[in-house]
Amino acid sequence: MAMVCLLDFEAYAEKYLPKIAWDFFAAGADECSTRDENILAYKRIHFRPRMLRDVSMLDTRTKILGTEISFPVGIAPTGFHQLAWPDGEKSTARAAKAMGTCYIASTYSTCSLEEITAAAPGGFRWFQLYIHRNRAVSRNLVQQAEALGFQGLVLTADLPYTGKRRNDVRNGFQLPPHMKLKNLEGAFEVCEMISFFHSFLDPSVTWDDIYWLQSLTHLPIVIKGILTKEDAELAVKHGVQGIIVSNHGGRQLDGAPATIDALVEVVEAVRGKVEVYLDGGIRKGSDVLKALALGAKCVFIGRPALWGLAYKGEEGLQDVLRILHDEFRLSMALAGCASISEIGQDLVQFSKL
Ligand code: FNR
Repeated sequence: MAMVCLLDFEAYAEKYLPKIAWDFFAAGADECSTRDENILAYKRIHFRPRMLRDVSMLDTRTKILGTEISFPVGIAPTGFHQLAWPDGEKSTARAAKAMGTCYIASTYSTCSLEEITAAAPGGFRWFQLYIHRNRAVSRNLVQQAEALGFQGLVLTADLPYTGKRRNDVRNGFQLPPHMKLKNLEGAFEVCEMISFFHSFLDPSVTWDDIYWLQSLTHLPIVIKGILTKEDAELAVKHGVQGIIVSNHGGRQLDGAPATIDALVEVVEAVRGKVEVYLDGGIRKGSDVLKALALGAKCVFIGRPALWGLAYKGEEGLQDVLRILHDEFRLSMALAGCASISEIGQDLVQFSKL
């Protein structure tokens, strides 16, 4: 099978993954309107491409929080990579390092933070945190991540409870017995996943907990799951260094806007004080270009990374990133941009958004 675009990896994953794993990866909340909107919204945005601008030399490099990445696409945090490939997050870490980009490792990884670090020493990684009712567990994880050389802490803000993903409920989704949430081993007995999420996540988290996190770590804090200017302003006020505009891939509040539609509001609200990133629905290089034109510093991919792993582990994820990189480079050239700094809002028909 020739793998030409990211949707080829999706088709492969759907065909070869066990149904329960495929359903878990694909799930959106309720009717999946927001999940699907994340993708459809890109089709409504059109370019204003510029011509005759010498695109013989293209530079896709950029920096996030001061660290250079080879192109503005990183790996969003997703749980349970061993459901896609036996080596799980170790393969993800190796692929991200090989492709020179950032990997945000999830609290709900099936490899421990030590294993991830050992698999790809020196790789550029951030750690994604869910705050648990047992604060000592979260504190230890944050401090462990910092000690292991993770370079940023990503607090996921949009999951006080898990959204209702119908197929996961129907399937009684749980991890196979041989897979473990390695970062939480010993912290609790994990039995049935859905009740696990309900009982251990702390729904009482507020903005003040950012101060608690700042007291635990020197790492820069990025808040993930922001969709409004009000929350973007609060994020700046509470001293975070970055915001990921995200609706959790449409897995939380169905009816939340597509992330690309929420991006401009957030970018305008922060007025350059913090970096703004985006995830949700990135499937093509031209999607990346649209997100950058509307103010994102970088985007992250969730499901496409899992499809790459399901295809061929580390190699498959590298293929996904390489295809996205090639498509992004081509889109830049066809739109008349030779470097990231040339990408601006005038590249899209903004008035029609
Ligand atoms: C996620 N996401 C997620 N987010 C997070 O902060 N911590 C996590 O553990 C997970 N786990 C997770 C599992 C699966 C299977 C999916 C699909 C998503 C959300 C993820 O970081 C990201 O916001 C979305 O996946 C982005 O949308 P796309 O790229 O999947 O369309």
